[in-house]
Amino acid sequence: MAEDVVTMEKIVALCKRRGFIFQSSEIYGGLASTYDYGHYGVLLKQNVKNEWWRAVLQERDDMVALDAAILMHPKVWEASGHLAGFSDPLVQCLGKCKQRFREDQLREAQPEGELKCPVCGGDLTPPRQFNLMFETNMGPVQEEGSTVYLRPETAQGIFVNFKNVLQFSRKKPPFGIAQVGKSFRNEITPQNFIFRTREFEQMEIEFFVPPSEAPVWYDRWRQWRLDWYIDLGIRPDHLQLREHGTDELSHYSSGTSDIEYLFPMGWSELEGIANRGDYDLSQHAKYSGDKLEYVDTATGDRYVPHVIEPSAGAARGTLAFMVDSYDEEEVEGRERVLLRLHPRLAPVKVAVLPLVNKDGQPETARKIYEELRRLMPAEFDTGGSIGKRYRRQDEIGTPWGVTVDHQTMEDQTVTLRDRDSLTQERIAISKLGTELLGRLNAPWRTPKLGGGEAQAA
Ligand code: GAP
Repeated sequence: MAEDVVTMEKIVALCKRRGFIFQSSEIYGGLASTYDYGHYGVLLKQNVKNEWWRAVLQERDDMVALDAAILMHPKVWEASGHLAGFSDPLVQCLGKCKQRFREDQLREAQPEGELKCPVCGGDLTPPRQFNLMFETNMGPVQEEGSTVYLRPETAQGIFVNFKNVLQFSRKKPPFGIAQVGKSFRNEITPQNFIFRTREFEQMEIEFFVPPSEAPVWYDRWRQWRLDWYIDLGIRPDHLQLREHGTDELSHYSSGTSDIEYLFPMGWSELEGIANRGDYDLSQHAKYSGDKLEYVDTATGDRYVPHVIEPSAGAARGTLAFMVDSYDEEEVEGRERVLLRLHPRLAPVKVAVLPLVNKDGQPETARKIYEELRRLMPAEFDTGGSIGKRYRRQDEIGTPWGVTVDHQTMEDQTVTLRDRDSLTQERIAISKLGTELLGRLNAPWRTPKLGGGEAQAA
């Protein structure tokens, strides 16, 4: 494990201390591997999703958006292969602990010989396939035919809407459909905080291309998605692209790569990019009886587009951005914990703080705050010493702090503090808004962790 990777315990503690993420149903003892997002967690995850939308939709002209329902016709999951094949091999301990495990994960840790329970060393049952889809019933009567599934991926909602989108979007391949939404998997071994949970959010793209162009688009999307994480501040040496071996590939895939991040538990998948060929559209055409193809009206050519699928997890992204930006340093003999988040990801962009709670300073600070919050998420804080208030802002990753002091009352200037370099400069109140908007939209300079000083990206 790299020395500069923070432990998961520290991230979990910070999330709880500052209200990012809580255990779900905590007052009832919690529900395993489900989490609730508090104020700053909501804002951070929303910013991750917003930056994704910005990169894949707003800054491109070959993408459209979709928001499909979570519940879909059960035939969708027959056609996609999820009913028959979306399963993990499950083994159970026959010894003392009776715990269940994924056989494939145990095999990675115990490559040789007969598998044993990793907790108590007991024997294990033979593996049986366990379908990961959550079932529920539609309508008031629980009868055959009323079973529906909570979608295990958002992707199928895109495939079954291919024809609708083609008709109304005036797009032709190459073009993509992007969607963000909840997915559900009855994971056997959810673990590592919000890394693997049973309810999670995906940010998925299905990019439809002429068949001969698929390899080129596959390479482009791998690079674009990798660059997205780096542009938002993740250290390049904490990211790697891992191409799946032929034995790992799904039967429909001619190429899949994982973008892996160096999480506290080691290199793990952050996002997958797959070349899915024409498998999904062909399957849905077969099961629905509808033609799912592109017809070029100019040439009369018709074909089933191939699909490149970059599929990311919103929570995994959020976790990676927190882990990568977490820092501890000593400033004037005191420890400072901070998130050196990219300003566009930071839940709050600026905190406005009166130095003391008298002499008109709180009133002036409140006025500045009310002006700034029209431009960007801002906070006004009067509680506790100025040092305590800054420590709180550092821990939630607020990039800039504005302090109103006695000089402000004389010359209408404030101090502007930078989270990463800790520099403080004096600036006229009238220039604050323009200055901060400029900084928010400026190219980001990756801060050097543990040092405080910024360095060029
Ligand atoms: N449509 C393709 C698909 O769903 P996947 O590799 O199973 O592919 C894509 O999932 C991404 O969704 C993963 O890279 C991960 O970021 C996220 N993800 C998958 N399962 C998850 C889980 N149980 N908890 C949190 N995120 C998950």
